[in-house]
This record gives sequence, C-alpha cells and structure tokens, in this order.
Amino acid sequence: MSDAASSAPLLPDAAPAGVRAFVDALVRAEPAQRDALPAALARLDPGELDALGAWLDFRVAHGRDVVQLAEDYLALMRMFTEEQFAFQRSGAYRNSTFAQALEEVYRRPDEMQAYMEGLATSTFLWSNHLEMYRFFRTTFPAGRGGRYLEVGPGHGFFFRHALEVGAFDVVRGIDVSETSIALTRQVLEHFHPGLQDRVELTCTDFLDATALEPGSFDVLVMGEVVEHVEDPLTFLRRLRDLGTDDAWFFVTTCANAPAPDHIFLFRACDDIRALLDEAGFAVVDALELGWDGRDPVKCARRRLPINVAYALRKA
Ligand SMILES: C[S@@+](CC[C@H](N)C(=O)[O-])C[C@H]1O[C@@H](n2cnc3c(N)ncnc32)[C@H](O)[C@@H]1O
Repeated sequence: MSDAASSAPLLPDAAPAGVRAFVDALVRAEPAQRDALPAALARLDPGELDALGAWLDFRVAHGRDVVQLAEDYLALMRMFTEEQFAFQRSGAYRNSTFAQALEEVYRRPDEMQAYMEGLATSTFLWSNHLEMYRFFRTTFPAGRGGRYLEVGPGHGFFFRHALEVGAFDVVRGIDVSETSIALTRQVLEHFHPGLQDRVELTCTDFLDATALEPGSFDVLVMGEVVEHVEDPLTFLRRLRDLGTDDAWFFVTTCANAPAPDHIFLFRACDDIRALLDEAGFAVVDALELGWDGRDPVKCARRRLPINVAYALRKA
C-alpha cells in the first residue's frame, strides 16, 4: 500500500502531517484499523486533530517514532480486550492490591511509558475518552487563580489544559510513577516553557503526601485514579479535605473496565455516586457513558465498561 493510498481517504486534506503518518502506521501494523478509524477520525474537530498532531510531534521530538506510538496504541487496545474477556468470565479484576499494580505496571518504566502514550492517543480515538476530555474542557473554571492540585496526571493532558486556561500561582502534581512524573515534566517544558517556577511535581503515593495543607487548593483534579487504589473512599476524602470551601473538583473513573492496574471494581454509576456522597462531595455536572454508546444501566447489568466524569463541590 503506498503512503498516499493508505491514509488519503481517512483524513481531511488539512490534517497535520504527524496524524497522517500515525494513521498510516496504524493501518500498516493492523489493516483492520482501516475499518475502525474512519468513524473515530470523523469525530474530531479541526482543533482536536491539531491537538493530536501536536501530541504526536511532541513525542517524536522526545525520541519516539510514529511506528512505535502506533504499536503502543494497538498494544493498549489488545491488552484491554484480553482483560475484558477474562473479566466477563470471572466477574472480578485480576489484581486487587496496590503492590500488584506497582509490580506489574508503575515500576516498569518501558511498559508504563507505552501505557501512558497509548492512553494519551486514546483520548482522541476512543469516543468515551474523547467525550470525557471535552467534558473536562467545557466544565473547567477557566481563568480561575489560586492553587491547583492534580493527582495522577499520567500523560499530563488535564495538567496541560489547566495551565493553558487557568491563572494559578501554584500548580502541584502528585503521581506514584516516576515515568508519569517525567512525562508530565516533559509536557510542561514542551508546551509551557517558562512556567516551571510555579509548578511542583512530586513522585509519591497521594496518601503519603502528608505535607499538603488541608483547605489550601482551589481546583483539584483526579483523572482515572480511584480505580487504581485499594481504598477509594480514603482517597476521595483526602482530596476533598485539601480543597477550599468553594473549590472546584474534577474526578473521573470507570466501572467494569479491567486493566492490570485497576484494582478497585466499581460495578455501576450508583456505586461511584454513593462513594462521592459518602466522601462529602456534591455533583455539579456529570457525564456517565456506557460502552459503545450503550445505556450505562444496561452496561452495569452486563458487566460492560462504563466511563464517568464528575465536576464536584464540597457538599
Ligand atoms: C490511568 S493514569 C491516569 C492519567 C490521566 N490522569 C487520565 O485521566 O487519563 C493513572 C495515574 O495515576 C497514578 N497513580 C495510581 N495510583 C496512585 C497513587 N496511589 N498516588 C498517586 N498517583 C497514583 C498512576 O501512576 C498513573 O500515572
């Protein structure tokens, strides 16, 4: 298949060269992507196509190549599919302790790097991830100042947006993985050079970050973390306590969505809402999405994945 023939019908003429090269690499590595990609690419507006291009260019500038990035994305898809089949049979996540997640994922730099890069790409190509990213951008209190805290920035997408549209004096990021901290730092240096003096990134378990002062943060974000911990209630309570009385919080998680580092199984949106309530949060805005456009209540009955995102305040 020639370069021109491989991606030409899938992308508008104005698509960034990096996206075109990535799509070519995906289709070459797995020809079945040619059937899946048109719908995924058609969902992206021009700004999102540019943002995907900027992300890919950024990774390439840091020594990755598009073929590797395409393989990482496909590996992530295969991993989720295999885990989902096993989960359908067993009804349980394979791992249940933080020690297992550390051992299998967070302490393996190469795997963690590929995982975070694949996840970053999925933000654009998986409809639920794209919707959650859009929801974050539309609900985020742009222009808000004060102190920003993010737990588990991972690939740094939320972190980057907060820096772009916020006016924070202090920006803190806490992540248990050295790889995630390094990636977030690279994101910052690449997209926001000059802001380093306001930003502090710390590699530690959030519950061990005891020096953070209660009631001291104005905006607090925790994307896809509570399913990674043994005791999400303690995590959420700690997050709540760190916010000022009128803080804006944003939390995302998932149900019935197995992965090696997903150790707490939520089965339905109601489980998650009940936990948020118990932790002392009130839901301001909610996005609850079943797998492949399905009703989340029906997904819960059939053990199918559900993605959720909540903008919250203190109750
Ligand atoms: C799936 S990634 C989420 C990335 C991004 N926030 C998002 O929403 O896609 C989860 C991140 O949480 C971090 N994490 C997991 N458990 C943690 C803990 N106990 N304390 C701090 N970070 C943690 C992981 O290292 C990883 O970077």
